[in-house]
Amino acid sequence: MADELILDGETREQKYQTLIPQIKALIEDEPDLVANCANIAAALRQTFGFFWVGFYFVKDDELVLGPFQGDIACTRIAKGRGVCGTVWQNGETLIVPDVNNFPGHIACSAASQSEIVVPIINQGQVRSVLDVDSDKLDDFNDIDQKYLTELAVFIADRF
Ligand code: SME
Repeated sequence: MADELILDGETREQKYQTLIPQIKALIEDEPDLVANCANIAAALRQTFGFFWVGFYFVKDDELVLGPFQGDIACTRIAKGRGVCGTVWQNGETLIVPDVNNFPGHIACSAASQSEIVVPIINQGQVRSVLDVDSDKLDDFNDIDQKYLTELAVFIADRF
């Protein structure tokens, strides 16, 4: 297992292309889900400096906060509530360029301005969501969706 990430590339896409294989190498031989999610959150935040990166796990009828990097966050989210609860309900990624314009957005921090939430789906069920928040408006696009989805698919069979 690599002890250090090699953070290379100039564009965000180049950084993802350097980072994703390292994350896969970091988690592929490790069976512990919490440890792997913790390292994914850390690697994304370390590479891109995002304001908040973390997982919510589907537990019974709620999303419950899982491993994350950033400020403290709301612990439980109901299905259909906020960006995360909407992604759980619909099973589709949401990119929110301005969280202030998203009806029902749950503001864990006033500093968060834009957000992407990717579902982690196993056997047709959303098991978790990966939530990335930025303190910049309109900070996420289809490049983020492509590579975060690649991570979500890679880890989905662990859930
Ligand atoms: N903003 C999210 C809640 C989670 S925090 O941002 C960490 C939402 O609306 O679902």
